[in-house]
Amino acid sequence: MPANKKLLVLPGDGIGPEVMREVMHVVEWMARRRSVNFDIEEDLVGGAAIDARGVAITPDAVARARQADAVLFGAVGGPKWEKLGFDNRPEIAILTLRKELGLFANLRPAVVLDPLVDASPLKADLVRGLDIMIVRESTGGIYFGEPRGIETLPDGTKRGVNTEVYTTPEIERVSRVAFDLARKRSGRLCSVEKANVMESGLLWRETVTALGAAEYPDVQLSHMYADNCAMQLARNPRQFDVIVTGNLFGDLLSDLASMLTGSLGMLPSATLGAPQPGGLRHALYEPIHGSAPDIAGKGLANPLAQMLSFAMLLRYSFDMNEDAALIETACTNVLASGLRTPDVMAPGCAKVGTHVMGEAVLRELNKLAA
Ligand code: IPM
Ligand code: MG
Repeated sequence: MPANKKLLVLPGDGIGPEVMREVMHVVEWMARRRSVNFDIEEDLVGGAAIDARGVAITPDAVARARQADAVLFGAVGGPKWEKLGFDNRPEIAILTLRKELGLFANLRPAVVLDPLVDASPLKADLVRGLDIMIVRESTGGIYFGEPRGIETLPDGTKRGVNTEVYTTPEIERVSRVAFDLARKRSGRLCSVEKANVMESGLLWRETVTALGAAEYPDVQLSHMYADNCAMQLARNPRQFDVIVTGNLFGDLLSDLASMLTGSLGMLPSATLGAPQPGGLRHALYEPIHGSAPDIAGKGLANPLAQMLSFAMLLRYSFDMNEDAALIETACTNVLASGLRTPDVMAPGCAKVGTHVMGEAVLRELNKLAA
């Protein structure tokens, strides 16, 4: 018997715990029907951890994340904690995990599933079949650069500072992840920065270009300024396959790309570290949607992004492609059958809540695995 896989589950705040509950049924289903056993630990993060323990994530939780084979994360934050200072906000939980575990490559797919093509705010013809993968650098750039802070000047006014910094190795390692993905997909990669105004962007462009020429001559590499990329994503999103970019531009562009699909509630993500000797690669999986405090506690949240995050976990951390595909197909089939949570509701469909959606996925899994 192979050793059980170790998962750390961090539901977090808002709708996080509600959607995670449905995913746990899928995890149990996998153990029952596919003989895939997980050892599951759970912990508090975000506002829930601040309330219970005074910090967004404890050193013990970080240590457990480091020992886990994979982390399944929900969402953090909410109005209750918005007034807290920068050193103790719910968001610190996810930023700490990215930094401490070296999770530098944030993979954010934007896929338009056929049954949801009309949910997009863009015309169906522009987005039908859309399948973009944004690879966002996630442990560097302006999010972590020094110096940073707010200082008071001699005249009593203040000065806020953040610094965009990238080194060659940081650019290379995230670009390799993107080049490798491009190779497995259409063979096209678009690198995005502001080389026209930022030195860090110029270094980014030069580094990606050199890496492409040296190691990936078969991948068709293009470059785009970040502002133009935002425009092109809205104008003609299907021109893109894999996009690689820094932390801040990736944050913005992935929100834009996700909305092209019409539903934030549908999109998963993976954040990967470097493969380590012995084979373990730290990895965290989370839906792109936040904690959605406006609908939290009402049973209305769409659990599919969290389900699909679990599917990504199976695929990227454990190479369990067949099981991942089973979950993905179950989600698509449930949507095709006309069940919809309010975020993706369409005329003629049946509106359901979080739990009914979760049960429908389980029923579909039973059918697919019969
Ligand atoms: C994201 C979020 C985070 C980020 C916040 C919650 C810190 O917006 O994952 O995109 O800015 O990276
Ligand atoms: Mg964001």
